[in-house]
Amino acid sequence: MVSYRKSRICVYTDFGASSPLVDSVILSVASSRLPTPQILPSRHFLRNLVPSQSNPTSSAPLVWLHSAEQYFPTDLQVFLDNTKPRVNFNEVAGPSPLDLNSLNRLGGDVFLTCKDDPTTSPAWIKGTKPNAEGKTEGATTGAVIVNDKGNGNVDVFYFTFYANNWGGIVAGIKSLNFGNHVGDWEHTMIRFANGLPTHMWYSQHANGQAFRYDVTRKHNSGLRPLAFSSNGSHANYAIPGTHDHLIPNFNLPGGVLEDHTNEGFLWDPLPNSLFYRFDAPANKFTAYDGKAPLAWLDFGGRWGDQEYPTSDRRQVKVFGQAKYGSGPTGPRDKQLGRGNVCPDNGKTCILRTILVPKSVGSEDELLEGDVVQE
Ligand SMILES: *[C@@H]1O[C@H](CO)[C@@H](O)[C@H](O)[C@H]1NC(C)=O
Repeated sequence: MVSYRKSRICVYTDFGASSPLVDSVILSVASSRLPTPQILPSRHFLRNLVPSQSNPTSSAPLVWLHSAEQYFPTDLQVFLDNTKPRVNFNEVAGPSPLDLNSLNRLGGDVFLTCKDDPTTSPAWIKGTKPNAEGKTEGATTGAVIVNDKGNGNVDVFYFTFYANNWGGIVAGIKSLNFGNHVGDWEHTMIRFANGLPTHMWYSQHANGQAFRYDVTRKHNSGLRPLAFSSNGSHANYAIPGTHDHLIPNFNLPGGVLEDHTNEGFLWDPLPNSLFYRFDAPANKFTAYDGKAPLAWLDFGGRWGDQEYPTSDRRQVKVFGQAKYGSGPTGPRDKQLGRGNVCPDNGKTCILRTILVPKSVGSEDELLEGDVVQE
């Protein structure tokens, strides 16, 4: 019997002491209706991440999950309740209870491994489908992490967690299903420069795409930007449609492996997120409410099973690509102190002004209005 602990849900009303750094943030919105930048104190900066009728400056992304999605955002504690720490496939002792306050006591070599067989799709691994209001009720599904660099230069990361990742099908051949893994951390990031939201980063597998903030799609043409989460793999795209699913060091031609995004289920991750400030020079997190658990952010291991060996009957390997890969590391590993809008991964960082689908053909090709960040 799986026990579902009621998860903590962040309360927005009290963010505690304000930071002089964030105090200097000037908020503006990329909307012609509200052209004048407003100078607001930090509590308002945080509130800016929170949607409400009375808060027209909210800039936190909303997510469209795909209409065929099977694996929804997942409560972090539910995930922990259904996994056991393993190193090299062998169970190791872990803290008890295993929760967001104790996770850092596990080593960086640990894989949080499913207790049951994830390939049989146990109910818990399917996560929580957003309700009619777009909320994943009772499930804490991610974190907002604010890297405030001073003088209104702020990167706000929106992390979302899904217990399972379905990797897609190559060339429409059902048996060629690769890149599945337990545990899936995804993010978008909005960069503020001198207090203005300038760009938005969409994480997609090993890389992603960056667009100028003002051209990103907004919900109901309002103020909150949209991310489109691809069916199964949850890569974040700026527009609905078909995108080439690129795999590093595996040069598939365009159209062979695709991600699909559409307006299936609208999800607002914000009310079910934990809120943190990240001090990059000190490499230190603090909770805005002084209460949100911190330990889990320092866990250096993997959220999910280790890639099964080929001797495991579930595993299939073709052209070096595994049907079941390893789970990912957590938010702290996603370059929270990055210099460019894109993470530093050897790829060209292109800031686009035209919303284009991800495609093999135009990945590195410069389009009109593109700016390359060196
Ligand atoms: C969506 O993902 C599920 C697996 O999670 C898969 O069975 C289905 O074929 C996918 N549909 C589309 C349209 O990609």
